[in-house]
Amino acid sequence: MTLRHRLVTLIVTVVLLVSTTIAIVLALALRANLYGQLDGELRLASNRAVSRPLLESGFNRTEPDSKPDQGDDDSAAGRIPLGQAAGTITITYFTSVLVDAGYIDESGTYQTLTLEQFEALDALPNDGRIAAVKVPDLGTFHAISQDNRSGNRTITAMSTASASDSLRVFVGVEAVLIVVAVGAAGWAGTFFIRRALRPLDAVAATATQVSELPLAQGEVAELVRVPQDLTDESTEVGKVGAALNRMLGHVQGALAARHESETQVRQFVADASHELRTPLASIRGYAELVRRSGETVPEGAGQALGRIESESIRMSGLVEDLLLLAHLDAGRELAHDTVDLSMLSIMTLSDAHAAGPNHVWNLDIPEEPCEVIGDEARLQQVLVNLLANSRVHTPEGTEVTLALTPQDDGGMVISVSNNGPEIPAELRSSLFQRFSRGDTSRNRTGGSTGLGLAIAQAIVTAHGGRITVESSPEQTTFSVVLPPAGSVPIAKGP
Ligand SMILES: Nc1ncnc2c1ncn2[C@@H]1O[C@H](COP(=O)(O)OP(=O)(O)OP(=O)(O)O)[C@@H](O)[C@H]1O
Ligand SMILES: [Mg+2]
Repeated sequence: MTLRHRLVTLIVTVVLLVSTTIAIVLALALRANLYGQLDGELRLASNRAVSRPLLESGFNRTEPDSKPDQGDDDSAAGRIPLGQAAGTITITYFTSVLVDAGYIDESGTYQTLTLEQFEALDALPNDGRIAAVKVPDLGTFHAISQDNRSGNRTITAMSTASASDSLRVFVGVEAVLIVVAVGAAGWAGTFFIRRALRPLDAVAATATQVSELPLAQGEVAELVRVPQDLTDESTEVGKVGAALNRMLGHVQGALAARHESETQVRQFVADASHELRTPLASIRGYAELVRRSGETVPEGAGQALGRIESESIRMSGLVEDLLLLAHLDAGRELAHDTVDLSMLSIMTLSDAHAAGPNHVWNLDIPEEPCEVIGDEARLQQVLVNLLANSRVHTPEGTEVTLALTPQDDGGMVISVSNNGPEIPAELRSSLFQRFSRGDTSRNRTGGSTGLGLAIAQAIVTAHGGRITVESSPEQTTFSVVLPPAGSVPIAKGP
């Protein structure tokens, strides 16, 4: 349950409980009052009935449930004590003989009680106490039975209908008021709590927006902030908003500093590599010049010149690799050409074959041309690097397969697999890092720098794809997954 729901539920429950309690207390008080009033009137009526002078001759003796004598006004005369309200039942005995059992109805007509009605009232103990009696067809009555001065029993009963009707109406009104109060509390609670907590939504939205930004690398644009009007520090929610904004300010500063230093390092590497190109070319050129001049140099010096030439060639390669990585890091724009990967695969595989005739080279490509959008020269470099690794880092006779597998979504998987030795697990995790090499001592002499896979990964990432490796004792496979054309912008990388 959200905080909002909990608060509204709490408010509604409290209002419901309080208003119900008040309603019950009021209804009980009103009930006591109404019935007290009724009983007071009943006692007065009973007293009137008990104290009236009974004139023997004045009564027509009427048995209950005898033929109703409606409209017989004369017969009513004298039966009901003077001043009794309509509906007040009077049962009178005269010397143990029932002389009267009836009431005057609303229209002023005397109504004789039926036998059941009479019996219900007659069963009342003759003790002068008020009791509730259910009178058939007439409803509930409060009745009192007492003897008059001459010892004649008199029963007087008054209907509770008016009191209970008033009570019912009152309870009904109360119920309506409770429903209205609870509804109003629910509505007002929802409205005000929503208004009070609205800034929290904005704070959460801001935090979510920032959390979805790629902050790990590259230049980070201005981070969104919580709107200024929701950062009023005099409110609790405003404090949260203001604190978040301050934190985002710090994060922004840190990210800008990180980007700045990254840019500087990248620029330094790019500049250094670029600057090294020329002197390296000169060293190589001079070494080559001496070798080609045909002049005889001492044997030792000749060997040294050969080494100078080969090492400067290797170093030029290294510098080119570093420069390329620096450019890819800086997000140097790649070309957007339609690249025929089938053709590229055939060419690079045949070059690899020429370079490593003692390996077994297989090509597994579909008949239809496999095309992707990208930078042909860079993608070729990926293939060259992967094939070179399969040649350099596996023993002669190893079988190497270059396969292209078009994906259903329009993407493409390029895989280079070989059945050479397994790449150790500890090396696999750092394989794509710069200068990460297997057997360092051997590879260093073999001209290996550990940049090949790092470059391949940078190129593939810039194309919106990814490169993975799987290695087991039977098979080592490097897979390049390229996304469908147009699905990912071929990046101005990080
Ligand atoms: N097909 C493979 N079989 C076995 N080991 C491999 C294979 N490919 C790469 N490796 C291991 O991964 C390491 C890193 O490869 P990477 O291509 O990045 O660098 P390198 O080949 O050593 O040097 P460079 O490619 O820069 O000349 C290699 O040194 C090698 O130990
Ligand atoms: Mg390599």
